[in-house]
Amino acid sequence: MATPVTHEQVDLAEVDLMDPQLHTDGPPHALLARMRREAPVRWNPLPDGTGFWSLTKHEHVTQVSKDPGTFSSYKGGIFLHPDQVVPLDLNRNLLLYKDPPEHTKYRLILQKAFTPHTVAKLEDAVRARFTKIIDDVIEAGGCDFVRDIAVPGPLGVLCELMGLPDEDIPRLFHWTEKIEEGQRAPEPNAASETFVEMAGYLYEQIERQKAEGQEDTLVMRLRAAEVDGQKLDDSEILVFFGLLVFAGNDTTRNTQAHGMHVLLEHPEQLAQLRADPGLIPQAIEEMLRYTSVVQWFARTATKDTELGGQAIAEGDRVVMWYTSASRDEDVYEDPDRFDIHRTKQDHKAFGGGGRHFCLGAGLARLELKVVLEEVLRRMDGLEAAGAPERLPSSWANMVTSLPVRFTPGRREG
Ligand code: HEM
Repeated sequence: MATPVTHEQVDLAEVDLMDPQLHTDGPPHALLARMRREAPVRWNPLPDGTGFWSLTKHEHVTQVSKDPGTFSSYKGGIFLHPDQVVPLDLNRNLLLYKDPPEHTKYRLILQKAFTPHTVAKLEDAVRARFTKIIDDVIEAGGCDFVRDIAVPGPLGVLCELMGLPDEDIPRLFHWTEKIEEGQRAPEPNAASETFVEMAGYLYEQIERQKAEGQEDTLVMRLRAAEVDGQKLDDSEILVFFGLLVFAGNDTTRNTQAHGMHVLLEHPEQLAQLRADPGLIPQAIEEMLRYTSVVQWFARTATKDTELGGQAIAEGDRVVMWYTSASRDEDVYEDPDRFDIHRTKQDHKAFGGGGRHFCLGAGLARLELKVVLEEVLRRMDGLEAAGAPERLPSSWANMVTSLPVRFTPGRREG
């Protein structure tokens, strides 16, 4: 039997980083490390005969992210197929697909909901949610950390923000799964039907919130928002809603679950966190860096240019591998080591640092802090009770199950 070719031996010119097989056990870190050393700006061939430039260094990811004039989100979208998930025309209503100056105007609509002040005010509500979520499992002495904690937490917080009833959490979960599947599907437009269902739901919610006089929800704020003196049209409101359901949900879920898993793999660091909860904020940054759950977004060159010594032609697509940039050895010492004492930040988990930098970063950090504080405070003897299950995807580092056990405790809610 032939010996399988290892990541150290494979011919880099032939590797397709989008092949889900390479992501079965999570991101292919050894291969990405080799690319950072040998071919940081590398042409990645695709099975359909096209390809894209693959960027694995922190420096190039930052450069592209901060130069939307040369590397556009609007021109070819942010996934490899312009019509990925839904048709490009609909996608282009999405903040992520806009370039300045349009992007700046539309981002302002959401920005007010995510200022540090607004986010800080949410802390009590977020804590109350996690108290209840932990109450539901604490007496049992074990749970599936993904299903029971990391899924309902971020979805509940989104309901809070948007003024949606908690009983709709399973519906929102179903739609996120569908949008995720649409992202992974080989054929474009795979989530169009889901958007039709979401539109029906959104308009029901608008009517209900109007009738009940709920004014300060994100849904009502989107309805009242104006760009250049014009109200948003129905499809713009829908896409904003879809964006929040998509961007604010499984990203946070996967970071919570992977972050918890990596802590369980490092019990000495878990014990240090229990002894000194003051370490939690920097532990969260390390969890974000180490797990970097959104692996990449794409841009399209608007003109001929050069990057890392390679000639990039107008119309070429470039893919920024955030996962790899967050482990660049030129920036982080011993980058594959998980270390909650690390003080160097500037990881790329929330994007390359340009104008599309994650708008929900403050909220995600708050949720991660609260879940960690509450889990450490209430779940003594926390440990893994089985191996995590992953969903192989080149785009998102996803975990679907993480069985854990702990000393049973008392409800507090
Ligand atoms: C740990 C959790 C999260 C991760 C890892 C994450 C990651 C990202 C990434 C990588 C981007 C693209 C940045 C770029 O292209 O430069 C992004 C954009 C975005 N995220 Fe997050 N995100 C998280 C949580 C959230 C939450 C909780 C929300 C809101 C409820 C949110 C809302 C958004 C929005 C609206 C954008 C688009 C910003 C723009 O295009 O201007 N995200 N996020």
